[in-house]
Amino acid sequence: MPVMLDSALPSDQPSPATQSGEVGGVQVFDLHPVEEDFRETILTCLQQQPKAVPAKCLYDKRGAELFVKITQQPEYYPTRTELKILAEHGAEIATHLADGVLVEYGSGSSKKIGTLLDAVTKAQRPLPAYVGLDISQQHLVESCEALASQYPGLATVAICADYTQPLSLPEISALRGKSKTAFFPGSTIGNLQPDEAVAFLDNVAQLVGPGGGLLIGVDLQKEKAILEAAYDDAAGVSADFALNLLHRINGELGANLDLEQFRYRAFYNEAVGRIEMYIESLVEQSASVGDVMISFEAGERLLTEHSYKYSPDGFAALADRAGFEMTSSWVDAEQLFLVAYLVARGQ
Ligand code: AVI
Repeated sequence: MPVMLDSALPSDQPSPATQSGEVGGVQVFDLHPVEEDFRETILTCLQQQPKAVPAKCLYDKRGAELFVKITQQPEYYPTRTELKILAEHGAEIATHLADGVLVEYGSGSSKKIGTLLDAVTKAQRPLPAYVGLDISQQHLVESCEALASQYPGLATVAICADYTQPLSLPEISALRGKSKTAFFPGSTIGNLQPDEAVAFLDNVAQLVGPGGGLLIGVDLQKEKAILEAAYDDAAGVSADFALNLLHRINGELGANLDLEQFRYRAFYNEAVGRIEMYIESLVEQSASVGDVMISFEAGERLLTEHSYKYSPDGFAALADRAGFEMTSSWVDAEQLFLVAYLVARGQ
């Protein structure tokens, strides 16, 4: 049966979704997020100096699969460490979420949300409602349906939206009058430039409202060797993930980039506290991308991602700029990763 979805136009102002369809016990709203044109983005980015692409270009189907594989590499500690923190401190975290609505930004981390929901159930503080936000409608609806069947008492709402833009929650009884906590795991905040991160957190603060919460995963600054290994694992999965971009450009844009003539590089820039990830040209070369010729110098780099690392105080200061106060935080024994609970101040 076709899924009936509502319509609500995105705008500069938060756009409340007004109508919903229902599928598998999930109320579904579609804010019709505008997806960027891959060809236009790539051509612009490859013709600028220095060359740089938005990280979201890395996530085609194969890129998403390779990213999951990265999270399973022994060197990539963030995913397993965050999960461990959520499991170990679930009872305490549950007290912050009690009786409210949990709004997950990027509805992809089924293990993390499961760990959290199990913790609140165990603490006998079950949540009345869950909202998943994601740009990919199919993925979003599937993961929300799975949650709805696993946690029968949980009202489950799926909103297909670009969560980097301002948005507000639909006025429905499952959400009305309840406190809101945003959940943004995975240290994805680190893939934003600090000013972008503040703008994003500001949008989150507007969504949860004064007194609302944010539970967020943040990767911590640490020894260069640990960080560089996490972003350039011995099995070469991080390299495959980045170089898959060239594969995608060839396949989707009819380009003839020679994958053998590029390599992946990842460095920790200690002065700014970020991992920088690049695709580097091994030789002077040119390639056609559709009908446009793109040239590379030998050694020239194309920036694919930044991954900022914070100290607990540094992150608290960043969040403060967006009106959030860090009231609780949990760190693993090796001090690799931080899970923080923040409260939005009133205006
Ligand atoms: C999605 N994000 C949190 C990852 C990170 O750790 O910055 C992206 C990544 N890219 C390569 N490895 C991991």
